[in-house]
Amino acid sequence: MPEWLKDAVFYEIYPQSFKDTNSDGIGDLNGIIEKLDYVKSLGANALWINPCFDSPFKDAGYDVRDYKKVAERYGTNEDLIHLFEEAHARGIRVLLDLVPGHTSDTHEWFIKSSQYEENEYSGRYVWTSNAFEGIGGHPYISGMTERYGAYMLNFFASQPALNYGWLNRTEKWMSAVDSPEALATIEAMKDVMRFWLDAGCDGFRVDMADSLVKNDDENKSATAKIWRSVREMLDADYPEAALVSEWSNPKQAINGGGFHMDFYLDHWHNGYNTLLRDYETGGEDNSFFRAEGKGDIMRFLDDYLPKYRVTSKNGYISMFTCNHDTPRPARTLSVPELKIAYAFILSMPGIPFIYYGDEIGMKFLDVRSKEGGYHRTGSRTPMQWDDTKNHGFSDCEEEKLYLPVDQSENAPSVKAQEEDPDSLLNTVRSLTSLRHRFKDLQADASFRTVYAVREEMPFVYERGNLLCALNPSKQGVRIRLSECRGRKAVYTIGEAEIEHEILTIGPQSFAVFE
Ligand code: NOJ
Repeated sequence: MPEWLKDAVFYEIYPQSFKDTNSDGIGDLNGIIEKLDYVKSLGANALWINPCFDSPFKDAGYDVRDYKKVAERYGTNEDLIHLFEEAHARGIRVLLDLVPGHTSDTHEWFIKSSQYEENEYSGRYVWTSNAFEGIGGHPYISGMTERYGAYMLNFFASQPALNYGWLNRTEKWMSAVDSPEALATIEAMKDVMRFWLDAGCDGFRVDMADSLVKNDDENKSATAKIWRSVREMLDADYPEAALVSEWSNPKQAINGGGFHMDFYLDHWHNGYNTLLRDYETGGEDNSFFRAEGKGDIMRFLDDYLPKYRVTSKNGYISMFTCNHDTPRPARTLSVPELKIAYAFILSMPGIPFIYYGDEIGMKFLDVRSKEGGYHRTGSRTPMQWDDTKNHGFSDCEEEKLYLPVDQSENAPSVKAQEEDPDSLLNTVRSLTSLRHRFKDLQADASFRTVYAVREEMPFVYERGNLLCALNPSKQGVRIRLSECRGRKAVYTIGEAEIEHEILTIGPQSFAVFE
């Protein structure tokens, strides 16, 4: 386990929308370099950058055309290497986004794979042997290639599935997981990883990490086996490199696949989902962090605790404020609500991720789909730095902007919030610095619930020797807890105090006691 992960706080950057330095309306790598001091000031010491590779951008870059080439609109490979160096000089690690399950249909491998004549890449993707034959319940395309057969899709129509084999093979054309073609795909992906690790990157966020082997068993054990071999490669040759999976099944990803971290995504019937944006109560939003919501922390804990217990010795569950696929938390939560939600995320075990702009409460905007974003596009708009043109994101003409900026009067910005000690931005800074100060708030320290009662406040939990308490509701509460005895607050949002065994915690408040 890389030591640096223990105190890591990640910041996710969607490169399109972070900072444009060449006035073409789209963010670039030099823009990220320019803002590294800002990232550091936030208390983040690691980055995850969404795919920045050559692509036709039918899925915002998750449709890779060349894994080893930076997309021209972001800069050059040299710029990316420069970014690694500048980040490292500030103690910041950089994770790139690896998309191993599919490529763009314009990738050279796919172009060769679609040819009539058999060649080195014929087995690189999943093909049937007959153009009139589908792929079970899986999405596929046929009738577009000179090669006879249909090819399987992993996501959108432009993203053919790479071939890692099938565990349960029911058709002749299904490769075995240990077939030469499946092994060649694994080697090709390892080669991509080595290429960027050798260039100085610190690891990868892995897109749809669970999607590799088709007809896998219910534990995804064949897919997990591939990732374990990747982890072996890292442990042997790049022991400081880290892997975080888009899997949302920490037992499979961490225990099975050897991932250092697994994202807790907002899937249906998922505990994370009940915290910030509750989709599951039929129109009524009972997110735990809404002051008006009928918050119930047990909905979260019932899902989280079993996952935490079985994986905490081997790796970390990663909670995020949101990501480029999910609505921004400010869509449903006000600033006082966000403060408590972020206090929670930044005081939990595992490794937290802050999505760019969430630290200032950027809104989820009602904008038209861009590059396959569809309903996700509203979370991908330009970063709001200040009150100059285009919020300081770019000095291009408005029509050239990759996506429109927030035009509203009360659009938050970094500059305005830097001047306000009580702003969301400064609260996030104080929370990250608290986490860096106390080992007991970091990734490894133990977690135990002390007071968690269905539909009751507050929620009190222990991290190592510290006691954290939070109350997102509008009513102050008072409870007696023996764990409180002799403690004093080291950090508070709102009002909270302990007298003997009595904890008093005001509305929308959070505190850490020593
Ligand atoms: C998950 C990524 O986060 C998403 O943005 C992308 O569209 C799909 N995987 C397909 O790669």
